[in-house]
Amino acid sequence: MRFGVNAERVPEYDTRFMRTGPIIAGALLLAVLAGCGEAPEKTDAELGLNAQQASGRRVYQSYCAACHKAYSSSGLKGPGLKRLFGKQFLPSGLPANDRFVRQSIVGGRGMMPPLGDALSEQQLSDLLAYLHTL
Ligand code: HEC
Repeated sequence: MRFGVNAERVPEYDTRFMRTGPIIAGALLLAVLAGCGEAPEKTDAELGLNAQQASGRRVYQSYCAACHKAYSSSGLKGPGLKRLFGKQFLPSGLPANDRFVRQSIVGGRGMMPPLGDALSEQQLSDLLAYLHTL
């Protein structure tokens, strides 16, 4: 077949680009996303957080933000937590209430590590107060 013969004659640098092209494009996209993908961080005041919610936000940033986006429902390592309590069910299908969210945080769930030992009772309740604002 004519097409096949032509394809074989494609110079080597061309075929190499066909393989690395998507990788380069992906890396560029990641760089752009890392630079300006997330909306600029809002201050606690702009988010209308009270003192407890604001300290819960600090807990979130230290223990959760690496795996969960707070203001998006798109996933990172775990599901996005936007409107976590605004929906009837958690991603697992459990009812979206304090009891089950607390249970996931303390005991872990699937690939999510248990964080019960890392957080004090105060940090946990601050965190839950913050999660209610998402
Ligand atoms: C190392 C990554 C990681 C960290 C850190 C992490 N999570 Fe998760 N989280 C996950 C993954 C993965 C899932 C999905 C678990 C599954 O269903 O298998 C998940 C699930 C959840 C869920 C949904 C539970 C359900 O029942 O569907 C909630 C809520 C949650 N995480 C909150 C948090 C909070 C709050 C923190 C911080 C205290 C946190 N996570 C820290 C990875 C993480």
